[in-house]
Amino acid sequence: MPNPSLLILPGDGIGPEVMAEVRKVIDWFAQNRDLAFDLEEDLVGGAAYDAHGTPLTDETMARAQSVDAVLLGAVGGPRYDDLDFAVKPERGLLRLRKEMDLFANLRPAQCFDALAGFSSLKREVIAGLDIVIVRELTSGIYFGEPRGIIDDNEGGRIGINTQRYTTREIRRVARSAFELARRRSNRVCSMEKANVMESGILWREEVQRLRDEEYPDVDLTHMYADAGAMQLVRAPRQFDVIVTDNLFGDLLSDAAAMLTGSLGMLPSASLGAPMENGRPKALYEPVHGSAPDIAGQGKANPIACILSFAMALRYSFDLGQEADLVEGAVEDVLAQGLRTADLLGEEGTSPVSTAGMGDAIVAAMGDRA
Ligand code: IPM
Ligand code: MG
Repeated sequence: MPNPSLLILPGDGIGPEVMAEVRKVIDWFAQNRDLAFDLEEDLVGGAAYDAHGTPLTDETMARAQSVDAVLLGAVGGPRYDDLDFAVKPERGLLRLRKEMDLFANLRPAQCFDALAGFSSLKREVIAGLDIVIVRELTSGIYFGEPRGIIDDNEGGRIGINTQRYTTREIRRVARSAFELARRRSNRVCSMEKANVMESGILWREEVQRLRDEEYPDVDLTHMYADAGAMQLVRAPRQFDVIVTDNLFGDLLSDAAAMLTGSLGMLPSASLGAPMENGRPKALYEPVHGSAPDIAGQGKANPIACILSFAMALRYSFDLGQEADLVEGAVEDVLAQGLRTADLLGEEGTSPVSTAGMGDAIVAAMGDRA
């Protein structure tokens, strides 16, 4: 069996810093577990634009298609704000998602015990929280046509985007949510705006139909996305798996992330159809962005990126025990009171740099192993 292959795309801002800590975890497995990855590294986002004038070259796109999994840091930054829309850093990420057809974006929001006091919500509301948002990632208003900015011929302009979903697109992401729910506590809540949008009506009908046809054992409920946002901050533990569209998923997952204390904690997996080797097309990335305000200062929290690698172990390589080891080590260092800048402030905790956090996690892996 050839080594599993990974394409590493650190990207912009804090991306390269947090990815350097993931490298330590990867190295640990090579040294201690006879688990070596074939690693390639390349540019994406603003970094690719600076080098090549495009946020993702065709060569990098081809490499992403040929590896077992892609690991991405973050893209974007104020330096690129005035660039043409077509070459903005975000377009590189969106091209990867679209061309790899990564339709199911899994965003778990889990509250670590040690951080329960750090959430903006009361401890009793979020302690033990463990939910996953399954966000549709390759369609909807992010990609729908027509789109653009046109003249209204009266001296003004019109900005246009189109929310559009097909039966097939809805069913395949709903299927991912139902499959995931079966491995958890078997509950799915689907969110849309069927009260105002036809695409929401179709979404609700198709999700329900698939449940009735193929997943009668799964408990399915529906919620309008605005009410869902409210429930998410009122009583988040009522949820297990939430399935929703691209734009609502973008918003709801940021809110869910913050429930857990910091955006610096949240990993994600973006999965597509199985490849020839049976592994799904896959890209793993932290939910946080490039955080240019703290880039290069050793302040970034590498945990979201490290946990994204743990998701790769679990979902791409079927290495559940190794994923447990990484996640357990993260729990250990948090229990020890180590905190990067985003999580500082609680009594009994001590500050640690980005690299210090990575070192501590690797040490904790060794202690557990
Ligand atoms: C996310 C981000 C992206 C999105 C941006 C960077 C294009 O916010 O992954 O949630 O809007 O999908
Ligand atoms: Mg987002």
